[in-house]
Amino acid sequence: MKPKYLNIKNNTAYIRDVNLVDVAKEFKTPLYVFDQVELEDNMKLFINNFSSNNFNCHTVYASKAFLVPALCELLVKHGLWMDAVSLGDLYVAYKSNFPMEHIIFHGNNKSKEELEFAIEHNCVIVVDHLEELKLLNMICESKQKYINTMFRVNPGIDAHTHKFIQTATFVSKFGESIFDDVTIENIMKEYLNSTYVKLLGFHSHIGSQIQELEPFLLNVSKMLSFSKSIMDKYNYKLTSINFGGGFGIPYISNDKPLNKELTAAKMIELITSLGNEIGWVPEDVFIEPGRSIVGNACVTLYTCGDFKHTYGDKNYQFIDGGMTDNIRPALYSAEYACDIANKMTDEKCVVCDIAGKCCESGDIIIYNALIPNPNPGDILMVYATGAYNYSMASNYNNILKPAVVFIDKTPKKVAKREILDDLLRLFK
Ligand SMILES: Cc1ncc(COP(=O)(O)O)c(C=O)c1O
Repeated sequence: MKPKYLNIKNNTAYIRDVNLVDVAKEFKTPLYVFDQVELEDNMKLFINNFSSNNFNCHTVYASKAFLVPALCELLVKHGLWMDAVSLGDLYVAYKSNFPMEHIIFHGNNKSKEELEFAIEHNCVIVVDHLEELKLLNMICESKQKYINTMFRVNPGIDAHTHKFIQTATFVSKFGESIFDDVTIENIMKEYLNSTYVKLLGFHSHIGSQIQELEPFLLNVSKMLSFSKSIMDKYNYKLTSINFGGGFGIPYISNDKPLNKELTAAKMIELITSLGNEIGWVPEDVFIEPGRSIVGNACVTLYTCGDFKHTYGDKNYQFIDGGMTDNIRPALYSAEYACDIANKMTDEKCVVCDIAGKCCESGDIIIYNALIPNPNPGDILMVYATGAYNYSMASNYNNILKPAVVFIDKTPKKVAKREILDDLLRLFK
């Protein structure tokens, strides 16, 4: 799916007034190019639509999708919180002057070091299981430090997504099932006996790239009812609830995009109506969109290498990047769309696989792409690469991580391209 402000002039792709072929020349390829305006539009969309007069709403950006300090600045500017998963995420946020008390810290196997850092900086910790809660209690007691937590549960919702990105089934590695009464009882006992560790409320995340409204509403109703039942059963006041992320985006033209405005508004409506009906309207409500903030706002620019026609009649267009900058096609069979940025109005007449340069047959970014007649040196542009591309980039084959550019009025580099010496940095 093309960026919102993509223009075509003289057969060439632009983001607003910025010529992408020039950007490729200036910053070299492969290159992740984000439109800052679209990024900010997406942030504003959630802030404006996920809002209520009856309770506080918090949009927590899931930084696993993409994190650089320049993005942290935009999150702060628009009042978003951040979801972090590792000491590395916490450290980048801290060094980017992100308000640490606005961080929701996740993870199914947090280390003591990670917990201590999160406690010291007053992050909200999402506890995954009982043993972790016990460790947290121990650390907080020894430091005599109060900490706010949520507890991650699985409401058992099948969000019809790719099985690798389903996270709330009964066998998920994340959280505990809301139907597991014994485990929940042990967890609540631990909270009731704890002086320093406070449970604000429960967290769930039902999957990723969800394109329908219904699973989000089902999650709201299950989680509200579950929270109320726990409050009643254990006489424990909860103030918060967190519904996670998963708001799907369009990647290819066949994708039916989720209406994010409507989804946010309907969730708010249901929290209010059901909350009033069951007698518990939370004070603070959180959602954690990642992909839907950054995914569509980015294109990856590659320089075309040679075109190969095989004996078996398959065509390949080689590019100067591949699975090292976009692992999702190999990992999840994710689909992408592309164009040639310097041939935007040329007739599309060639079918080929867009193949990376890694030593893997599966290093294909797009199968059966339809493109204009390609030439070496053309700039191939893959759409919707903002989420889980840069953050999942690797150095396989000792390939260097690309740079990242944000286009505001002009393009500016927000992450440098790796250089060969970066590959040796750890061995010195
Ligand atoms: C706990 C949690 N919150 C939020 C997200 C963000 O999901 P998405 O990028 O699909 O919105 C994830 C993704 O895995 C997650 O695990």
